[in-house]
Amino acid sequence: MALAKRRGFIYPASEIYGGINGFWDYGPLGAQLKKNLRDAWWEDTVLNPCGGRPGPNGEPVRMVPLDTTIIQHPRVWEASGHVAGFSDPMVDCRETKQRYRYDHLMVYVPSEATAPEESTRALFAFMPDTPSEAKQRKRAEKALGEVTTMALARLPQAEWRRVVGPDADKPGTLTEPRAFNLMFKTYIGATATEDDLAYLRPETAQGIFVQFKNVIDTTRVKVPFGIAQVGKAFRNEVTPRNFTFRSREFEQMEIEFFCHPEEARDWYAFWRAERMRWWQGLGLAGENLQLREHEPGELAHYAREGAGTSDVEYRFPFTAPGFGELEGVAHRSNFDLAQHQKHARTSLEYFDPERGEELPNGSRRGEKYLPHVIEPSAGLDRGVLAVLCEAYREDPARASPELLLLSPRLAPIKAAVFPLVNKEGLPEVSERLYTELRARFWRRGLIEHDVKQAIGKRYARMDEAGCPYCFTVDGQSLTDHTVTVRDRNTARQERIALDAAARYLEERLGP
Ligand code: GAP
Repeated sequence: MALAKRRGFIYPASEIYGGINGFWDYGPLGAQLKKNLRDAWWEDTVLNPCGGRPGPNGEPVRMVPLDTTIIQHPRVWEASGHVAGFSDPMVDCRETKQRYRYDHLMVYVPSEATAPEESTRALFAFMPDTPSEAKQRKRAEKALGEVTTMALARLPQAEWRRVVGPDADKPGTLTEPRAFNLMFKTYIGATATEDDLAYLRPETAQGIFVQFKNVIDTTRVKVPFGIAQVGKAFRNEVTPRNFTFRSREFEQMEIEFFCHPEEARDWYAFWRAERMRWWQGLGLAGENLQLREHEPGELAHYAREGAGTSDVEYRFPFTAPGFGELEGVAHRSNFDLAQHQKHARTSLEYFDPERGEELPNGSRRGEKYLPHVIEPSAGLDRGVLAVLCEAYREDPARASPELLLLSPRLAPIKAAVFPLVNKEGLPEVSERLYTELRARFWRRGLIEHDVKQAIGKRYARMDEAGCPYCFTVDGQSLTDHTVTVRDRNTARQERIALDAAARYLEERLGP
């Protein structure tokens, strides 16, 4: 987090006012890194879906983009189930006024065979991965001896009077769990009465479902096909934490892939593998990435009927040894289209002329149906965080003991050009090389020219920024028209011809 701030990747939002919990801003390098990740998704999803690999039907994957509003008709969220169901059960502490996710709270209980309810001794609740975990463990061991943990949800409510809340001194201050809706409310128009109530979208997906019919009617797409959208989503998370991992404002990259119900299982298997492959291709290739199939009890309301849900998960430093969700791939069946069809009283059925019984003339009768949906839904901010965590290295042998091994595709600064010293004709040569490289590669990202400070400091700054290549013009450049190029990963330098620098970059960044 310190490096992310120091190098201008991520800042706390509204920091000069003390910050605002659950909101983060992207600095100059962070904004470019985030754009590069968003662009990579757009290129590999919309412009060249799945790198040209065919879907399970043997044909190229069809995808169209969409950009829908953050504020939708409030009935969208009634139909989707978010007004009634999009809530986490919460527990309040009457002593500290803190609020906790009921399903996250754990308790330390004595590890001896005695069932907790057979004792009158205090039990100690904590939130995993927060300071309360270690603090409460100490208190519990002092009071109870050897301890073990259990979910608070498994402890009978009658025993809660003995539970000391994660930040409390006294036992018995936790309230019963209560529902808490995660959607941010707002009002449309000047009067701001309850009739003007609207919501900031908690997912981009519903905008896609409510425009499904327009897309079918106005374009030439045929099922199976997908609609892709990137955009902001808002959730009034009760416990925002772990840096940007759980924020209240974040960006999603969502695909709703529409297919015939009989083909849903094949497309589900296809998208699980494709999405895992995509994240691996961005450098999250090691043991820190896994694909996990949900247990039946974990499935979201919209996914209970389907082939399943899988998460692409990353082992973030704050979840280790556990994993945190990066992207969910869910078979949503026809839940959303059916709900909107019912609530909006508009048919959202698709007519497929290539299905149905064969007629004597060889054509088909056609079939009307509500397509099923496979939804790969990724978090852009979580993606940036995973990429930063994966790239982070410590190397005490370097001038900068911290560096980022960002892949050249994602690195915000693609290359830097330096004169070894800011005199003796060197800056003129480096400026010319910089201008050439910038004119050639500006579409791919930032190219920097830096003439100040000792050369070691400039390399260190670029290592921290994750810049993969640094070109340095030195005295020899003036006589033999060469330049050194330093590879960030190895810190090794080689000498190449000045006029080969652009080709060197092109081979590594692409044309
Ligand atoms: N349309 C389906 C949907 O919204 P989700 O699993 O709730 O599913 C999808 O969200 C992705 O959005 C998650 O995998 C995660 O990457 C990201 N996400 C969800 N809540 C988030 C939060 N509070 N902060 C940052 N990213 C979040």
